[in-house]
Amino acid sequence: MTNSQLYQAIFHRRSIRKYDMNPLSDDTISKLQDYVALLKPLDNNIQYEIDYLRTDDVKNLLPIKAPHYICLYSQKEDNYLMNAGFLLQQIDLYLSVNNLGSCWVGMAKPSKGVPLVKNGLDFVIMLAFGNTSERVHRADRSEFKRNSLTEISSITGAEELLEAVRLAPSASNSQPWFFSGDVDEITVSRKKLSILRAPLYGKMNQIDIGIALCHLWLSFDQQGKGVSYNFREVVAPNGYEFMVKVIVG
Ligand SMILES: Cc1cc2nc3c(=O)[nH]c(=O)nc-3n(C[C@H](O)[C@H](O)[C@H](O)COP(=O)(O)O)c2cc1C
Repeated sequence: MTNSQLYQAIFHRRSIRKYDMNPLSDDTISKLQDYVALLKPLDNNIQYEIDYLRTDDVKNLLPIKAPHYICLYSQKEDNYLMNAGFLLQQIDLYLSVNNLGSCWVGMAKPSKGVPLVKNGLDFVIMLAFGNTSERVHRADRSEFKRNSLTEISSITGAEELLEAVRLAPSASNSQPWFFSGDVDEITVSRKKLSILRAPLYGKMNQIDIGIALCHLWLSFDQQGKGVSYNFREVVAPNGYEFMVKVIVG
């Protein structure tokens, strides 16, 4: 799987909520596990583990019943939620490239008997996946319901770069991101939440930013550019909260 294949998948992926409940072949799962072993983290200092769950292992508050789930356990260090989004979004794109359905499931939890803490790492979130009889891919960009570039960015000359980020999935399609600064040093911020929305979306929004950062990394990579991340806080635009600065080179 190349980064370029993952990048192309950004423009066609969609969430799948109805699955063929037959399990995937051992070969398919084994190839997925090989890929997962090579995931790139956002922050190398955060320990994490990936587990593979089956339908009965999951207590799902919304009806996304799938034959398989990928479950992320993590150390709860600074930025662990962004790291979770960054990691699992690579899997979401990998599954799309392989014509498999997937969907982030923020409401699902491991069922009784499946640990919430594993080797000292806490359960964070999971991704449902499997075969589907639905259309796995979108035909083109017009099928995405997303904010326009001008609503999510004040950077000039970054249209192509940020198009891949604009299309990123987010919890309830909330698209909480904003991009400011310039193309070589992008400040990524997250919409401030009202007290009412904070309990439900406070964590999900940070995972969403990690997903957007995964798309941004792939978009830079597509242009032959590497990036580094600086988490030292700088002023964010009004109504937003600073998350990270993405620096080219
Ligand atoms: C962190 C996160 C949690 C999500 N949780 C759920 C969920 O619990 N149930 C669900 O049906 N969809 C869930 N979604 C899927 C979003 O609703 C979906 O990504 C968004 O509406 C955009 O649609 P798309 O993925 O088809 O582009 C979640 C997405 C993210 C990123």
